[in-house]
Amino acid sequence: MNRRDMLISGLAAAGTSLLPGNSNATAKQNKMTQVGVFPPGFLWGAATSAYQIEGAYREDGKGESNWDRFVLAPGKIKNGNTANVACDSYHRYREDIALLKALNLKSYRFSIAWTRIQPTGIGAVNQKGLDYYKRLTDAILEAGIRPFPTLYHWDLPQELEDRGGWPNRDTAYRYAEYVDIVLKALGDRINNWSLFNESKAFTQLSYWLGVFAPGRKDPLAFLKATHTVNLAHGLGFRAIKAVNPKINVGSVFDVSPHVPATDSDADKAATSAMEKLSNTWFAESILTGEYPDGVLPPDQQAALLGFQTGDDKIMHADLDFVGLNYYSLTRVTATKESNGIPGMHLKADWAVGPYEKTDSDWVIYPQGFYDILKRMQLITGHRPIEIAENGAAYNNQPDASGQIHDPKRIEYLRSHLNALSRAIADGVPVRAYHCWSLMDNFEWAEGYSQRFGLTYVDFENNQKRTIKESGYWYAKVAKENKVI
Ligand code: FCB
Repeated sequence: MNRRDMLISGLAAAGTSLLPGNSNATAKQNKMTQVGVFPPGFLWGAATSAYQIEGAYREDGKGESNWDRFVLAPGKIKNGNTANVACDSYHRYREDIALLKALNLKSYRFSIAWTRIQPTGIGAVNQKGLDYYKRLTDAILEAGIRPFPTLYHWDLPQELEDRGGWPNRDTAYRYAEYVDIVLKALGDRINNWSLFNESKAFTQLSYWLGVFAPGRKDPLAFLKATHTVNLAHGLGFRAIKAVNPKINVGSVFDVSPHVPATDSDADKAATSAMEKLSNTWFAESILTGEYPDGVLPPDQQAALLGFQTGDDKIMHADLDFVGLNYYSLTRVTATKESNGIPGMHLKADWAVGPYEKTDSDWVIYPQGFYDILKRMQLITGHRPIEIAENGAAYNNQPDASGQIHDPKRIEYLRSHLNALSRAIADGVPVRAYHCWSLMDNFEWAEGYSQRFGLTYVDFENNQKRTIKESGYWYAKVAKENKVI
């Protein structure tokens, strides 16, 4: 099941037209800038996440995560795949750092598996887990690359899932404890930390739509999870600053321009509500301590979230930078039926419109990258932005000589980087771009069926990595600091 098709469970018929958010004023301005050229010092990188690449799922004292458990349930993952081995990066990390070097990249976004640090998510620390990330970090630094870790990229200790997972408020406090342990061990060698990856995506897909671990389909549990994650941001932020106030702390938000399916008032109103739930429910609430209006019925909001007196102060965090992930746009249709969230009668999906799509069926819409950056700047203000993910699935296989020709990925990256350069020229303070992904990997519920890598991985035979044509192209872009 394509997770984007299931973005929001809704029953209404699909609308018929799209009204992409475009602006004439910016189009005019863009003509005056040199499209595709990046500012000096711009940081080029690539991204991965622990569960998607590491494998070694039972090694060196690692505990069981919710994904280790979820992949075993029949029918949850395409072709019954698991990430027990994945890219085996736990053992091959030096090879993977060599890939980053070969691609001329200067920033590596990876994530830390909580279950390697605290096998059950509570108490006892596993020194071997900390040692692994020390080795990894030191090797990244030795290669002259900036380590850019994310503390939570969706793999929760199963024990905490059993205790209610993210809908359980206590998980925020467990998270802060884990963050404190990691920072005390690694804070001396890493200056930029992301608290979470894509709070919206994982809370929705895990607790509302049931397509990610632990597979729950409970919209009200999803709402509770959003609040716990916001609290965890504030608690995690302060845990890091307590270790060292000079460390830069940010978080990575998945964002997407939302367009009404038609220009009816009902579709427009539905779009406004859904847009806030998707794009600002986390970022704005964390940065201001207040939830945006116009999403939940005001008289029910506190009860729906489990919001307690003082929570505004707990969740507030003046992040040092903001990470944004952009893939596609979202279309919203008003419906008669509720989608399960009180007050919301709408359906939102990602895989529609008169646009070309990638192999994972995601609409290709580069102008949306520009539009969403301008939109998010209204929330993030002066803070530096890092693009933590952007990329495309194309499943090209090696040709007879073993080369991988993936011209569509090059085209995707070229058009998106051009849009990004226009946003920067128009004043959005973006300082880094990370392509998703350094290499093909375990794509969650899609298993190994969707290849997002700049590098091909031979999962079936020998784990051999082969840089794709797009990888060589991206290496040149990184070297020349401009789109070619
Ligand atoms: C993002 C996730 C990342 C990967 C890409 C394709 O939403 O953060 O782990 O799955 O999509």
